[in-house]
Amino acid sequence: MAPEGSSGTAGAKSGSSPTMMDRLTVDHRRLAFMLDVLETRLADSGELDADLLVLLDCLIDYIREYPQTVHHPREERITERLVDKGLTPGERVVVELTMTQHVDLSAATDKLGRDVTALLAREADAMPVFVTDVRRYLELQREHMRREEQQLFPLAMRLLTDADWNEVEAAEPNTTDPVYESRQDRYRALMDYVVDAHTAR
Ligand SMILES: [Fe+2]
Repeated sequence: MAPEGSSGTAGAKSGSSPTMMDRLTVDHRRLAFMLDVLETRLADSGELDADLLVLLDCLIDYIREYPQTVHHPREERITERLVDKGLTPGERVVVELTMTQHVDLSAATDKLGRDVTALLAREADAMPVFVTDVRRYLELQREHMRREEQQLFPLAMRLLTDADWNEVEAAEPNTTDPVYESRQDRYRALMDYVVDAHTAR
């Protein structure tokens, strides 16, 4: 099975419930693993095939359903509390860049969706356009997650109070990761790729 777990402590709830930083870290590991799967699959296939399209379709749906709809709002509940914490100019850039990149990533995901439509229609140059766009997406998403882990999360752990974390937790929706924790029927093709890739490691 796929990458799990972390040992974060920020935003701790009572008992053994996962903390907000646990959730964010697990989200990142899972998405990073799926992006690795996509990259490997693309490297293995220089041209369009049905399996690749199924993987793409599932991955784009997943990104829209969970990372963009659940994970990014989690982080934005943190960034909206950080802006009033007397940030240095450099820290403010970190916070603002996080929010800007969430918008950029959403647009990049939509572009990949249009690329898949073009692939299905077998439009001229659809594959090279898609390959270029997916490389850009991988670069942006990986840099984004790396910066959050190295800069945003430590900033939040240093500046947010227990009251802030309690507010962040209180707004947490009752939602689980659809690939790993629910709706695995919908995302079966994606999970199969992830399991296969993980087993092959
Ligand atoms: Fe993130």
